[in-house]
This record gives sequence, C-alpha cells and structure tokens, in this order.
Amino acid sequence: MIELRKATIKDRKKAYQWLYFSDFSDFLNQLQGYTSDNLPSYKEFQSDYEDYFFTGSQEERGRCYIIVSRKNGKTDDIGIISYTSFHLQDKITEFDIWLKERSCTGHGYGTKAILQLASRIKDMGYDKVIMRPSKHNKMAIRSYKKAGFVEEGLEPASYYLPEYVDEFADGDCGPGGDVFLVLYL
Ligand SMILES: CC(C)(COP(=O)(O)OP(=O)(O)OC[C@H]1O[C@@H](n2cnc3c(N)ncnc32)[C@H](O)[C@@H]1OP(=O)(O)O)[C@@H](O)C(=O)NCCC(=O)NCCS
Repeated sequence: MIELRKATIKDRKKAYQWLYFSDFSDFLNQLQGYTSDNLPSYKEFQSDYEDYFFTGSQEERGRCYIIVSRKNGKTDDIGIISYTSFHLQDKITEFDIWLKERSCTGHGYGTKAILQLASRIKDMGYDKVIMRPSKHNKMAIRSYKKAGFVEEGLEPASYYLPEYVDEFADGDCGPGGDVFLVLYL
C-alpha cells in the first residue's frame, strides 16, 4: 500500500540523489543527454525545485509529495511525485515522478501515486495533467497509460503560457524525443 505525504525541505536532497545517483539514473541521465561531466549539481536542482515545492508556500505554482510505502506497519519513503503549474495554461498541470531505486519499480507503486495525486489536484480545480516521458522510457509510458493518460500531438500554445512556449515546447529530451501524454480529469 502506498500513500502520499507533503514533502518538506529535508526531503529535497534525497530526491536529488534518487534522481541522479540511483541504479536507474544512468539510463535516465543518458536519455536527457547527461554524463558525469555535466550532471546537474544540487544547486541547479534547487533552482528547478525551488523551496515552495517543499514548503507549500505557493501551491498554485506546484508542490512535491513523498511516496510512502506501508507494509506490516512499517513505512518507507520510496519516491517523489510533484505537480508543476506555473508555466501552464489555467487548470492544466504537469506531473513528474521517480522512485528511489530499481527494486521499487514494477510493483504498481508509481501508477498508484499518480492516481492519488490526480485525485488531489482534481479537487483543487485542475482538469488536465500532462507528462512528457522520453519515447525510450517504456516503463514510464506503460505506467502513465495504465493511470489513464492518452498520447496526443503537442500543440504548445494550447498548453503553455505564451511566455514559456519557447523554453518548454521541446521538452527535456529535445525535439521529437518524448511522448506527449494527457490525463483528462
Ligand atoms: C516510471 C515509474 C514512476 C513508474 O512507476 P512503477 O511503479 O514502476 O510503474 P508500474 O509498476 O505501475 O508499471 C510499470 C509497467 O511497465 C512495464 N515495463 C517494465 N519494463 C518495461 C519495458 N522495458 N517495456 C515495456 N514495459 C515495461 C511493467 O511490466 C509494468 O506494466 P504492467 O503492470 O502492465 O506489467 C518508475 O518505474 C520509475 O521511477 N522509474 C525510474 C524513473 C523514471 O523513469 N521516471 C520517469 C521519468 S519521465
């Protein structure tokens, strides 16, 4: 069983380590064009995931949650999931998720976390969620489709605020490198 708890500032460093230094990181880093020479520093991670993601001080812009597994009365932090909205049109948000290590993947935890966060943000008034996994990340694509996401062609101006189109239209994997997925709430 998994549940979500609001992440705190203390969780930020481990979220960084799970992303860039776990046993699936080589795969993800390669997809994003990172090598050991240009891997984002913790400082750069902090500028992407600013304090408000962990303090809840600007929930209209985004927030992180820790994915917690509960087994036989024991709890364990197994990953992180966030929504980010500052760059998107009204009532649209974007999810990002990663589990802490490969052994946590493939058990349905990520998909369940997505469904739980989708339910929370629907209650906040959102009506669409987007995700943009690499086209090579088959496990992520499979998980997101199980959660109800559908593949669409991206029309950037329909999703991004005009001032962010140039910055975000190509996605993290470069032009044509990802799959554009939408969840209608
Ligand atoms: C992406 C992620 C959050 C998904 O969560 P998860 O708990 O592993 O997802 P699930 O177990 O519900 O689903 C994974 C599905 O992919 C399938 N799968 C695994 N490897 C696969 C592959 N190479 N090709 C196709 N499907 C694959 C699994 O069989 C499972 O499908 P099934 O339930 O129909 O059998 C998690 O795997 C993760 O953190 N991965 C590493 C980080 C990452 O890639 N983050 C996303 C960046 S966009």
